[in-house]
Amino acid sequence: MKILKTLAGAVALAGLMAGPALAADMTVGFSQIGSESGWRAAETTLTKEQAEKRGIDLKFADAQQKQENQIKAIRSFIAQGVDAILLAPVVATGWDQVLEEAKDAEIPVVLLDRQVDSSDDLYLTAVGSDLEHEGEVAGEWLVKEVGDKDCNIVELQGTTGSSPAIKRKAGFEKAISGHDNLKIVRSQTGDFTRTKGKEVMESFLKAENGGKNICALYAHNDDMAVGAIQAIKEAGLKPGSDILVVSIDAVPDIFLAMQNGEANATVELTPNMAGPAFDALDAYLKDGTKPEKFIQTESKLYTQSDDPKSIYEEKKNQGY
Ligand code: AHR
Repeated sequence: MKILKTLAGAVALAGLMAGPALAADMTVGFSQIGSESGWRAAETTLTKEQAEKRGIDLKFADAQQKQENQIKAIRSFIAQGVDAILLAPVVATGWDQVLEEAKDAEIPVVLLDRQVDSSDDLYLTAVGSDLEHEGEVAGEWLVKEVGDKDCNIVELQGTTGSSPAIKRKAGFEKAISGHDNLKIVRSQTGDFTRTKGKEVMESFLKAENGGKNICALYAHNDDMAVGAIQAIKEAGLKPGSDILVVSIDAVPDIFLAMQNGEANATVELTPNMAGPAFDALDAYLKDGTKPEKFIQTESKLYTQSDDPKSIYEEKKNQGY
């Protein structure tokens, strides 16, 4: 009995000396949305790279755009006893229950790039941009660009119910409100994909006199804008001049389009959300340091005058 007690004491002491999980021995589950856009693919690449660099064991689950798959993945991470969970939530609502389960299991959850409607005590922190501000930046650019000319705008929204679709729409509307010469005449989801962006733009063009009634396209991401640019060209119009194109993400391909004069402006969203997320987790798991509830990334505007050729090259070396 005495020997057993001594052994148990030694094991407990070793445990205390080892301390809580540090980056090098951390296991993190990552529930990713899918691979709908170039930006999303880069976020996945960079998260894997960051994990490898820090010696983190990353368990990756691709949800194929389905919230139910994300909920299953989180439950499986909890069952496996991971040290932390990264969640890029496909939509904003419906997370309370599973986040409660993670909280009960004392597993910190960090939200990446998209936000949820749940109470903020259900997650450790959220890393992302000010999504409404992104929409505002895009809208302010267009207000300046068109001046007092009348301008009919068509809008390609992101995935229905996702925080970027909701907030980028609201921010853009805020920026153009009070400018009666600017009007959103059509608005529909393109699901953040190139294929859907092209398809929906084709229907907008048909409905608006072959595109002649359209002055600008606002797309909630660059991939939809790239698809729409193709549709505009196939309709015999010039994207970038006949129809102005403003979007969000700053992926390499939009800079190629800018070089050709086919896109006008984009608002940057960094795909490296994992770096700040792992830093926050490291500090929290080491000594309980609580990060801010929102770790905000920058939203920079790029236009054709920003040397798109060299930005394209730079971006190509940044996980894209
Ligand atoms: O949540 C961020 C958005 O999701 C990106 O802007 C878009 O490209 C992606 O699919």
